[in-house]
Amino acid sequence: MSSQTANAVRTPFIYIRRDLPEIYIEEMKKLGAKVAVEPWEWNKEEPTPKIDLTNCDVLLTLGMRDDLSVLKYAPNVKWVHSFSVGIEAMIKSNFQNNSDIIVTNSKGCTAIPIAEHTLAMILAFSRGLQTMINNKKDCSWETIPTIDLALATVGIIGYGQIGLAIAERCKALGMRVIGCKRNPDKKLEEHDDADEIVGMGELDSVLAQSDFVVLSLPSTKETKYLFDKEKLKKMKKGSYLINVGRGDAIIESDLVEVLNEGLLAGASLDVFEVEPLPVNHPFWTMDNVIVSPHNAYFSSQHMEHNMELFMTNLKNYMEGNSLINVVDKQLGY
Ligand code: DGY
Repeated sequence: MSSQTANAVRTPFIYIRRDLPEIYIEEMKKLGAKVAVEPWEWNKEEPTPKIDLTNCDVLLTLGMRDDLSVLKYAPNVKWVHSFSVGIEAMIKSNFQNNSDIIVTNSKGCTAIPIAEHTLAMILAFSRGLQTMINNKKDCSWETIPTIDLALATVGIIGYGQIGLAIAERCKALGMRVIGCKRNPDKKLEEHDDADEIVGMGELDSVLAQSDFVVLSLPSTKETKYLFDKEKLKKMKKGSYLINVGRGDAIIESDLVEVLNEGLLAGASLDVFEVEPLPVNHPFWTMDNVIVSPHNAYFSSQHMEHNMELFMTNLKNYMEGNSLINVVDKQLGY
């Protein structure tokens, strides 16, 4: 945050690119902020701002969709907050290379719902839920193979806030947990349930040991297509892949092949390279694939948690204090 005279309070002009309940707009105005809302329906073309944004200094938007070309209308923006954790659209535009703009994201707001979704997928696979649903159609009374989770290992690739929440829940089931991340020495929380945390250099060994591999990776140059056929073939025979990060971490056609060859027992995919997943995509018809519509993050508290974070940061911004959840724009998360 650029330095400010002690006690001076900024009165920001906030431009908001999504629908927000009126209560939050009122709260911002009560703090003295000028607020303009022009929602962008994310599956439609980007709207051109209808109001003068010359003096706008704060932008609230969705980093996974907004490439920030709007900055040409808003040359004085100092802080961008992303309603998503992922900020890949912003980063791909390379705006960060010559900009002092501070970017914050909603890291932490989605960790628990994504961890609960992951648990649901692990339990569904381990107890054969898909098979039960299919067998019911034919009144089939066939014994269904199971996996003992208390004897199973989960490898969490991309071990951030989401990974920590997944680890805590997997440990409660008695699983062995390995976290795998770029910087294994950097602790996010004092309490961490993982049995082991290793660097990305040990990814192949983690894949070979894990009965469940969970991807909670951001979309960056390093993670793009990391899971190609060669990498997928490093996974343990009969294991499961769960992706709750970003779709472009996997070469989807390679995953289809590896699943069809029977090397992997199944996959649960919440994110895809193209979203919505095209209707003719093979994943839709594969019995061993669970498809969810980029929904793992969702919870009834989504708006509350995000706005609590944003309002805390808004007060920090106005008072010249450091912001929380500042993204490293070069790393992309
Ligand atoms: C995120 O926060 O990045 C989730 O994918 C939902 O957008």
